[in-house]
Amino acid sequence: MNVKKNILCIGAGYVGGPTMAVIARKCPHCRVTVVDTDAKRIEAWNSDSLPIYEPGLAETIQQTRGKNLFFRTDIERGIRENDIIFVSVNTPTKTFGVGAGMAADLHYWEKTARQILEHSQSSKIVVEKCTLPVKTALAMERILKSVPNGNNFEVLSNPEFMAEGTAIKDLEYPDRVLIGSRETESGLKARDVLTEIYTQWVPREKIITSNIWSSELSKLVANAFLAQRISSINAISALCEKTEADIKEVSKAVGMDSRIGPKFLESSIGFGGSCFKKDILNLVYLCRNYGLSEVAAYWESVVRINEYQQERFILNMLGAMFNTLSGKKICIWGVAFKANTGDTRESPAIYIARRLLEEKAEIVISDPYALVNARSDMNGAEGRISYEEDPYKAAWGCHAIAVLTEWEQYKSLDFHNIFREMIKPAFIFDGRNILDHQRCFNIGFNVYPIGKPPLTHF
Ligand SMILES: NC(=O)c1ccc[n+]([C@@H]2O[C@H](COP(=O)([O-])OP(=O)(O)OC[C@H]3O[C@@H](n4cnc5c(N)ncnc54)[C@H](O)[C@@H]3O)[C@@H](O)[C@H]2O)c1
Repeated sequence: MNVKKNILCIGAGYVGGPTMAVIARKCPHCRVTVVDTDAKRIEAWNSDSLPIYEPGLAETIQQTRGKNLFFRTDIERGIRENDIIFVSVNTPTKTFGVGAGMAADLHYWEKTARQILEHSQSSKIVVEKCTLPVKTALAMERILKSVPNGNNFEVLSNPEFMAEGTAIKDLEYPDRVLIGSRETESGLKARDVLTEIYTQWVPREKIITSNIWSSELSKLVANAFLAQRISSINAISALCEKTEADIKEVSKAVGMDSRIGPKFLESSIGFGGSCFKKDILNLVYLCRNYGLSEVAAYWESVVRINEYQQERFILNMLGAMFNTLSGKKICIWGVAFKANTGDTRESPAIYIARRLLEEKAEIVISDPYALVNARSDMNGAEGRISYEEDPYKAAWGCHAIAVLTEWEQYKSLDFHNIFREMIKPAFIFDGRNILDHQRCFNIGFNVYPIGKPPLTHF
């Protein structure tokens, strides 16, 4: 059955854009509008150079934009004309006042709730797509019901589990879609409306429903568990480096246990991205608020190990390069927080780049898609920085290469050529364990992987 709905998404970011593009493609009879206060972002969505890079996104946009997918800045009109409103605005960590550095900053979200109330001329289903502290839907309901105007607002929680870099695939073939609702008659009715949209392409058994608080909390917990696996393997990588054990071998042996599984057991410089850290800190803040200090401390340690791993990487570089980086030229391969995205939010590479500048190194940043974001992140950083998309040119005249994003193309470069053009002794610090370390060593590099014994010529 073809569903015909008028759908609005407030927030045209990494979630709003791809999510709505996939809904528009899978539900050709729905009319989907995405609005944002950022006119430049909307302009980019309407152009050939989209504001974000995601494999498969440009094709999806091409098939739908102007047909049943529209990017606009007129939020008020969008609210008036649509029945289902997804809210996908940013919910960063608070930087001020109570809960600064921990709690979610909900001011964008609350502004949206008030806009919906002010401009609605009919009843709406409001869908939380953002990641929010558990019980936020209650606040949304209270705002929406604060001025009785004859309209009914039903709030649903439908957290987004897609990952950047694989967003389109994740949205097309989700592991599950979670819809949380009030268990009232109108709540369940609204839930059915949203379920019907997803059943256009998601198998029914993968669409799960829950009470609204479980749904809000599940998203925070899913991210906390994923990040916890990364911190767990990274903590063990430090022990491997002390004991000549090899983290790849340990990770393989551990991951083959079917109770554990192999995913998210790659040791690296740590997790980044706009979500993991903020969502865990949000969880920690919630636990503290409810007096659960042991639970809060447990989850907070996941973030602390991540910071430790990045700092350890810098200290390893410093130790290997004769305890001084001052005046040395270091090439950074990869600044995106993971491969297949241009997103640099909370990227460990940005932290490491800043730390290298503090050590008075000169840095050359290379990345296939993230240089625009990197320039803006590094704006204001003191020291010598240059940007070079070509990884060969970036490494010319450098003392060391630090591999900080697991871009596939770095694996198959001509390392003979690169070695020839570098200052000797030449170093590689593989922060993602993606290179052929023995081969690089045989060429002449001193190679420092993560969680494995280094291969050096000294
Ligand atoms: N990025 C991810 O991988 C991911 C995955 C799952 C969930 N989430 C969650 O989804 C939410 C959005 O994340 P994102 O990465 O898309 O953020 P983003 O910063 O890329 O996009 C948010 C957009 O909302 C817009 N906005 C803010 N207030 C607005 C308002 N009042 N009216 C209209 N537009 C407004 C901003 O201008 C921005 O373009 C967050 O809660 C995040 O935690 C993100």
